[in-house]
Amino acid sequence: MIQQTGQENQQGPVIEVQSVTKSYGRDDQKISVLHNLDFVARRASTIAITGPSGSGKSTLLGLLAGLDQPDSGQILMDGLEVTGLSQSALSSFRARTIGIVFQQFHLIQTLTALENVSLPLEIAGAPDASTQAMARLNSVGLADRASHLPSQLSGGECQRVAIARALVVKPKILLADEPSGNLDTRTGERITDLLFELVKREGTTLILVTHNEDLAARCDERFQLRDGQLQRIS
Ligand SMILES: Nc1ncnc2c1ncn2[C@@H]1O[C@H](COP(=O)(O)OP(=O)(O)O)[C@@H](O)[C@H]1O
Ligand SMILES: [Mg+2]
Repeated sequence: MIQQTGQENQQGPVIEVQSVTKSYGRDDQKISVLHNLDFVARRASTIAITGPSGSGKSTLLGLLAGLDQPDSGQILMDGLEVTGLSQSALSSFRARTIGIVFQQFHLIQTLTALENVSLPLEIAGAPDASTQAMARLNSVGLADRASHLPSQLSGGECQRVAIARALVVKPKILLADEPSGNLDTRTGERITDLLFELVKREGTTLILVTHNEDLAARCDERFQLRDGQLQRIS
């Protein structure tokens, strides 16, 4: 079967969420997190999502990434409906379309910086993975740390490696879950400057979950997650 790649749908929104509902647990243990949530993101826009701890921000990003499925509703990412895809179709969608950056970096501790960045390319079968990964490491200012393990890098350097890894396959959409939340203020600002510079240069859509109001204010649009729905702030 030929999968819809979004190529034929370049003008539409890059993300469309329609009436998504998500809860955890069941019966009297049930926690309802998202209720009939609607959301649309324009191509190449930067979007901030704020909201209290436990309001469902990471849950929403997990659904957008296809790491979890909603109870009901529809999610279209770059024109592809990801709700209800098989695991293998989801993996291939993620590898092609989505980059993810987490608060805790989630680098593979036994691989060097260069190997961490090469991995998505190798999975995608790129013939020149190492060369492309090196160029990416260079773009985040870490060419001279290529052979270091994560344990030999600072937190800010680890997050730069994670950003390089997320962007190495040139995804249309970058999902960042409190990317500076584990860094000191100055380092966090530098990491954020780098993120904005890269997504603006490459036309990547950025969904940035953050507690930081200054960071949120730098995005084209701002939403707050409250009572299971996204409310536009600006
Ligand atoms: N896998 C899970 N199983 C059960 N409850 C979960 C799970 N993941 C998140 N939750 C609950 O869902 C709510 C939203 O969590 P989360 O999306 O992590 O919020 P946020 O990222 O905004 O802090 C919280 O009450 C959390 O405890
Ligand atoms: Mg969270």
